[in-house]
Amino acid sequence: MGTALVTGATSGIGWEFARTLASRGHDVCLVARDESRLEQRAEELRRLRVDAECISADLCERAGLARVEERLSDRLRPVEILVNNAGFGVPHRFVGGSIEDEQRMLDVLVTAVMRLSHAVLPVMVDRGTGAILNVSSVAGWITGGTYSAAKAWVTVFSESLSIELAGTGVHVTAVCPGFTHTEFHQRAGMEMDAVPEWMWLDAQDVVDTALRDVRKGRPVSVAGPQYKALSLAAQYMPRPLVRALGSRRAGGQARASH
Ligand SMILES: NC(=O)c1ccc[n+]([C@@H]2O[C@H](COP(=O)([O-])OP(=O)(O)OC[C@H]3O[C@@H](n4cnc5c(N)ncnc54)[C@H](OP(=O)(O)O)[C@@H]3O)[C@@H](O)[C@H]2O)c1
Repeated sequence: MGTALVTGATSGIGWEFARTLASRGHDVCLVARDESRLEQRAEELRRLRVDAECISADLCERAGLARVEERLSDRLRPVEILVNNAGFGVPHRFVGGSIEDEQRMLDVLVTAVMRLSHAVLPVMVDRGTGAILNVSSVAGWITGGTYSAAKAWVTVFSESLSIELAGTGVHVTAVCPGFTHTEFHQRAGMEMDAVPEWMWLDAQDVVDTALRDVRKGRPVSVAGPQYKALSLAAQYMPRPLVRALGSRRAGGQARASH
């Protein structure tokens, strides 16, 4: 089984990807900032009798990104599955908010996804095998501020790559979760009490659905019947209606909530 490199692997969806792939026999390379948590997670996975390496890197910084790019372009230890998952939301509105926070979010959600894909793809294409899973969001289909705009980029980037790579043996899938129980909202200081229970997903369901969809060669993966229906509606709804719903939402709580 090939090696899977997962960014944001210490928590939430990334941890579920790492744990599931390791339980299926993949060696793993875990990427996140918190070194001691990374080591603790790697130790848990080694008990499943796989190799688990760690790269402590802040994906907002070029030096951190470069370390991960170097690992991904290593042809002697090829990475078979790349999961671009690391991410966070910015809980304030664009006008009057911190531009540095916005820049960091764009660095992790967009620049890191682009650069890490660019680093690994030549290796995957030459080997004629591999998969990239880019964790996007259903928010990419609505008007939820700069977070939605970044996730729209991730989804379209993934779909475009899946077309460019047709016939190479390499698959790219955008994983588009809805609200999922992780540390995401708490870290961003978002108040989520108003979100009804039926709208919440478990990270395990998101990951199982994504891995099944990658096997089927699907360019976009949406977990849960409620989000399959909502995302279809958002994609086929006239854009003026999507904008109208977005403006009602913007009048309420903070944006960037999933
Ligand atoms: N939860 C949801 O409702 C939801 C819905 C749709 C999409 N998503 C997307 O799912 C992905 C995973 O989020 P999650 O919900 O699992 O959140 P989470 O539980 O907060 O996990 C985020 C992970 O990303 C890492 N990370 C954050 N900033 C980083 C940075 N600058 N450099 C490197 N690693 C960084 C964190 O570790 P360190 O802090 O140690 O770096 C952690 O491992 C994100 O892309 C998010 O946008 C989430």
